[in-house]
Amino acid sequence: MPPLSETFQEAITAGYGFDAEAVELGAAMHQDVTLPAARIRVPLAMLNRHGLVAGATGTGKTKTLQVMAEQLARAGVPVFISDIKGDISGMGGAAIPNDKIQARVEAMALADYQPRAFPVEFFTLVRARPGVRLRASVQSFGPILLAKVLELNETQQSVLALAFKYAEDQRLGLVDLADLRALLNHLNSDEGKAQMAEYGGVATATVGVMIRKIVELEQQDADAFFGAPEFAVEDFLRTTPDGEGVVSILELADMQDRPALFSTFMMWLLAKLYQTLPEVGDLDKPKLVFFFDEAHLLFRDANKSFLNQIAMVARLIRSKGVGVFFVTHSPSDVPSEVLGQLGNRVQHALRAFTPDDLAVVKATAQTFPMTDFYDVQQELTQLGIGEALVTVLGPKGVPTPTARTMMRPPMSLMSQLDPAAFGAITAASPLLPRYATDADPSSAREMLAGRKPAVPAEPEIDVSVPDEPRAGGRKRPTRAPERGVDWGDVAEEGARFARSGTFNTILRSIIRIFTRGR
Ligand SMILES: Nc1ncnc2c1ncn2[C@@H]1O[C@H](COP(=O)(O)OP(=O)(O)OP(=O)(O)O)[C@@H](O)[C@H]1O
Ligand SMILES: [Mg+2]
Repeated sequence: MPPLSETFQEAITAGYGFDAEAVELGAAMHQDVTLPAARIRVPLAMLNRHGLVAGATGTGKTKTLQVMAEQLARAGVPVFISDIKGDISGMGGAAIPNDKIQARVEAMALADYQPRAFPVEFFTLVRARPGVRLRASVQSFGPILLAKVLELNETQQSVLALAFKYAEDQRLGLVDLADLRALLNHLNSDEGKAQMAEYGGVATATVGVMIRKIVELEQQDADAFFGAPEFAVEDFLRTTPDGEGVVSILELADMQDRPALFSTFMMWLLAKLYQTLPEVGDLDKPKLVFFFDEAHLLFRDANKSFLNQIAMVARLIRSKGVGVFFVTHSPSDVPSEVLGQLGNRVQHALRAFTPDDLAVVKATAQTFPMTDFYDVQQELTQLGIGEALVTVLGPKGVPTPTARTMMRPPMSLMSQLDPAAFGAITAASPLLPRYATDADPSSAREMLAGRKPAVPAEPEIDVSVPDEPRAGGRKRPTRAPERGVDWGDVAEEGARFARSGTFNTILRSIIRIFTRGR
């Protein structure tokens, strides 16, 4: 009988040695020995089957994202990644060699390891930080996500949905929070109340509470990411002239204490991608891989309908060529409807201090393919930093064998990028000019203020007037703000909206764009 390590090596090679183009995660380990020939890889074609990166604090989740993002960029796949602690920004600089990195390179015999920077683009949700500003119009954000951000109860949520419906019927564009406030104030006026009677009426007190919540949000500077110009998600799908995928990094260090805000915003980005991108079926490699770090913040306190919608977007976005990786401490943070869709798993060490922890370890162990080579439950608690238990979908969609993996070290910097380098990258961004200035198109606030006549008396501006210059001097056609991300059949809804007349009215009003000095 061959020694166990030989059988192990054969099993790993059979599972992971496929021909298809792949992202390399690291090398398999058996009995604490790293086997350089037993490479652990994920086929690019299976990345739209989504994934989970989980593990206790400090076990290596963020470095795993970094390694995956680097490999994807090299393979020409654009990546979106959120940077909660600021350390992902290091992808814009080269790794500083040290003994630990060197030990990994040697243990895995990595011939292609070369410290280098990757093509990155930095994004921000706040005005005070450098980076390309990401904004959504209130209309496009829609009532469901907005209710999550405002922490509305069910009654308030249904009033918000009615308010959106009213705005659509009355052709009032909702661009920023000031528009929403103006709309709610109007609904509390005599005229508004009379009109709302048709919609079943709303309680004055409820509307009052909602207005206060919006004011609170504005005071937290959260109005920065509601407004115009709205971010066009296609701008994440970029490659460099030499064919590498651009890594779009959303800097969230300033927003750590406002998890409901940024996690909901990321959900909007996903929903918007789903809504915008064409159906492509299964591709050789994804169009974009989206890493959702600290995903537990999204699921925390989420009601059933919100969770259903996350599950639905995850399910449907696959055929748009987008892969989503949720990153969180424990698989138990992710609701089962979503967890069941995550085909690729990188599980770092779990801690088992309490009986509850132990139950999670046991449950997690059961989700890995059976293996003769490991005691999975034991491995889960004994994995070293930067090691993980891995199982992914092979090229035919069948789960690969469970493998304890020594993860590759990142080739880019493993810490925060220094401010000078960060500043240089943001200053050179081709997207920066397009999104730098807050625009204030004529919308609900202005229209309600000058209710009669409904169409403001400003001179019509020629439709060909551009809003912002596009990089390279190209002009971007003026666009209408989209409706709220609709979670139903978006295509059908889109067609209905285009027919409704609202679309044309908004188009007419959006072309009167003025830059408001805030
Ligand atoms: N693949 C790796 N290569 C080299 N070093 C690694 C690797 N993974 C982890 N490390 C080391 O472990 C440290 C912690 O890793 P990391 O920041 O990825 O943990 P984390 O799981 O994201 O933690 P947190 O939950 O606190 O965000 C890193 O700073 C690095 O020193
Ligand atoms: Mg981390």
